[in-house]
Amino acid sequence: MYGSPLYVYSEKIIRQRARIVKKTFEGINLFPTFACKANNNPNLIRILKDEGFGTDVVTLGEYHASKMAGILDEMIVWNGNGKCINEMSVLSNVRYVNVDSIEELERWKKISTRTGQIPELFLRINPDVDPKTHPHISTGLKKNKFGIPIDMVDTALQKARNSNLKIVGFHVHIGSQITDFEPFAEAISQVVELSKRYDFGKINIGGGWGINYKDKELDLSQYQRTVVPLLRDFEEVVVEIGRYIVGPAGVLILKVEYVKRTHEKVFIVVDGGMNVLVRPAMYGAFHGIQVLNPEKEDKIEVDVVGPLCESGDILAKHLMLEIPKEGSYILIENAGAYGFSMASNYNSTLRPAEVLITEDGEPRLIRKRETFEDLFRTIV
Ligand SMILES: Cc1ncc(COP(=O)(O)O)c(C=O)c1O
Repeated sequence: MYGSPLYVYSEKIIRQRARIVKKTFEGINLFPTFACKANNNPNLIRILKDEGFGTDVVTLGEYHASKMAGILDEMIVWNGNGKCINEMSVLSNVRYVNVDSIEELERWKKISTRTGQIPELFLRINPDVDPKTHPHISTGLKKNKFGIPIDMVDTALQKARNSNLKIVGFHVHIGSQITDFEPFAEAISQVVELSKRYDFGKINIGGGWGINYKDKELDLSQYQRTVVPLLRDFEEVVVEIGRYIVGPAGVLILKVEYVKRTHEKVFIVVDGGMNVLVRPAMYGAFHGIQVLNPEKEDKIEVDVVGPLCESGDILAKHLMLEIPKEGSYILIENAGAYGFSMASNYNSTLRPAEVLITEDGEPRLIRKRETFEDLFRTIV
């Protein structure tokens, strides 16, 4: 009915997980935001707005998605290490900005003297903590491009003195898909201590909660016992959670075009690959796969691959799977975060449609499949 490849999301799961986030911080004055880099569909962001969330945006595009969802500027936090002047003039009305560098602070200083418009600023701290996740999604090590090292904080605060900049606290986000609580505890306790030293009443602790793709996820009760008590004295705690909320709420449905057998291997060739879900190709990420219509019950080792002209166009390698019937469908699990939002038009393919299963169990189309007209709209 909707064709494939197709993303399908569950409203029920999104709401459940949004409520777990809030419950984890019970007793804390929380400003919960949804990191809409994980999924920018305004229909999903609207559900989170209804659950009391604002958004964390990185670009004008994500700001636009938030506006389409009806998120007020006062509920938006702006992140990023490459904010350009053009963006800075449009986004200076948002609630908070996380400043990534002393160089960026200088820019805000100039803008604030010119426009008089000053958002409240958090300084993003690089605490040099290893989050034990994939190197591409690790952000809080000294060698990573993000944040201000702790020993440069004094200099940063000096720069803000004698200006009309309002620095209200520190921000820390050490990476995504973190499944151990220790790196959170280590990074956040450093930034809590720093906040106390400088007498800041607000703190932004980012996101990064790891979900269960294969065999491990962040133990939230441990997080609640070790991390949350560190935050008790703050007047406000901002969080920016993406993957945890929408990852397990989405699946990707793909059609089996061929079951290709060579002397080496069996390849399950499906109608979408790194263009619709880049995580396996980009990070070697694991996603569970369900065969919806197996030829027979026995499992054999297969590679699940897409149709693009790249050997790297894979969805799973060396996976034990039932052989599906040609023309039937497979389902990729935990695809709701960094799935559609990282999809591309590589090989001039069309980005997929998205469907929401509403709380009353009805499917609702929330994004149409792209057309060739969409694909070439900008050609002159
Ligand atoms: C600054 C910042 N905040 C929040 C997030 C959201 O992370 P996650 O989706 O892992 O919760 C990210 C993503 O890496 C980020 O870079």
